[in-house]
Amino acid sequence: MLRVGVLVSGGGTNFQAISDAINNGKIPDTEIVLLISSTKNAYALERGKVFNIPSKVIVRKDYPSAEAYNVAMVQALNSSRVDVVLLAGFMKILSSTFIQAFRNRILNIHPSLIPAFSGKGYYGLKVHEAVLKKGVKVTGATVHLVNEEVDGGKILAQKAITVKENDTPETLQQRVMEEAEWQIYPEVLRDWALGNYNYLFERTS
Ligand code: GAR
Repeated sequence: MLRVGVLVSGGGTNFQAISDAINNGKIPDTEIVLLISSTKNAYALERGKVFNIPSKVIVRKDYPSAEAYNVAMVQALNSSRVDVVLLAGFMKILSSTFIQAFRNRILNIHPSLIPAFSGKGYYGLKVHEAVLKKGVKVTGATVHLVNEEVDGGKILAQKAITVKENDTPETLQQRVMEEAEWQIYPEVLRDWALGNYNYLFERTS
């Protein structure tokens, strides 16, 4: 059984897509054992309740330092014996302590074709605003491993989406989510659960 921890900050549609894929059997032998939100009011927490997934709200301002905040998250994930950590719309940058604790076992979904429109400052709607400002004709989403470089880890999956003439940041975001993110993130986790990325990490159970 692959034990998954998911980190969220907002709406949680990627978390929903992954939970749905686990529930309907598309991702075998996998359980989300802990949902961590960086904000109290994240709608993702409501989605978690529907699936009966244990959740914790761990907020940066409740800790004296970024390091203490990251250590609290590592402790929570370890207490739940998490094998793999999924960032799903998680809007905080993880410290090297966190990354070392789960080296090669942290995945992120980013709403562009990395290396385009990625790195510090490119998150959420800002990415799609920048895409439209630049006038590129193709964008998309990327699932990658998380390392110390923001959006810089090994790329595991990408899907391209055509930008339309009349797109707004919101319509483009919606299409990138629906047609790319909600498909490739569950697919990567499925591959992981099937053992196709086994060389990267060892399971605890
Ligand atoms: C998604 O588009 C995700 O790719 C992006 O934020 C949105 C969260 O949506 N993540 C980032 O920009 C991370 N750098 P969700 O909460 O509905 O999954």
